[in-house]
Amino acid sequence: MADREPPGRFPPDIDLSVPSVARMYDYILKGKDNFEVDRAAVDAMLERVPEMFRFSYDSRAFLTRAVETVAAQGLDQFLDLGAGLPTNENTHQVARRVRPGARTVYVDNDPIVLAHGRAILADNPGTAFVLADIRDTDRLVSRVAATQLIDLDRPVCLMLVSLLQCVPDAHDPFGLLRRLLERLAPGSALIYSHMVSDDPATRTWLTEKVLSLGTAWGRVRTPEEAGAAFTGLDLVDPDLGAGGGPPRPVDCATWRTPGEPPADRPRGPAQRVWETAGVAFTF
Ligand SMILES: C[S@@+](CC[C@H](N)C(=O)[O-])C[C@H]1O[C@@H](n2cnc3c(N)ncnc32)[C@H](O)[C@@H]1O
Repeated sequence: MADREPPGRFPPDIDLSVPSVARMYDYILKGKDNFEVDRAAVDAMLERVPEMFRFSYDSRAFLTRAVETVAAQGLDQFLDLGAGLPTNENTHQVARRVRPGARTVYVDNDPIVLAHGRAILADNPGTAFVLADIRDTDRLVSRVAATQLIDLDRPVCLMLVSLLQCVPDAHDPFGLLRRLLERLAPGSALIYSHMVSDDPATRTWLTEKVLSLGTAWGRVRTPEEAGAAFTGLDLVDPDLGAGGGPPRPVDCATWRTPGEPPADRPRGPAQRVWETAGVAFTF
């Protein structure tokens, strides 16, 4: 039973006894579209991984800086996969600040995200919400094409922010990303972050904790595993001029952050989990 929502606002076919990643994330970001089951799941994880709040906010702030950067490079089409529930500073708002005619298609496989996304975006021309699963790339691309908002013959900014940890190895997360990138025109961009840890015990604990809830989920990966997303792409320098080393994926909190040189992992040793992140272009 929804305890903060009027009845009837959620699609009837949703199993509200199992936490969903989208609603758990909404709770972390202080949204109101979540249930007790989602909040209890997050609270249990916070006991062992209190930095979850921090890197979730860092990742959203990275998304804003990354969209601004890509839009400033001239791209005006954004395909935001695993978009999550609308929050403040959504992709279309950031992109349109830089390029007022920008178009954004949001994709998620959670019907609640679709219902809320469509309701909130109803008055936004140039923006659409699509229900699709990233694991079925053909269907995803055809549903996006059906919106007629994104021209796949022109460069597109593909976004997978905090998404691929939801996809198990058995579904070949980096292979499906490759297949999606191959469908895009040259000069397209990738905005990407992935939940990682360099501590094996923390990776195992967090992965098993989420799976034990019955939630659809992949695993926390190492920074090196997550960095496979950028193979064959032209990485954007994560440095704003502070001397932080070569182009590479970095802690999302330090990607082009004013006054903060990029760092491969969080500077505070107590933070064992973070989002490794980067932006790249296709050739
Ligand atoms: C951690 S949230 C990230 C939301 C958003 N990208 C952000 O950074 O704020 C992950 C989102 O991916 C969605 N998701 C998980 N697996 C998916 C899949 N196989 N296909 C499409 N979306 C998926 C979830 O429903 C959830 O909304």
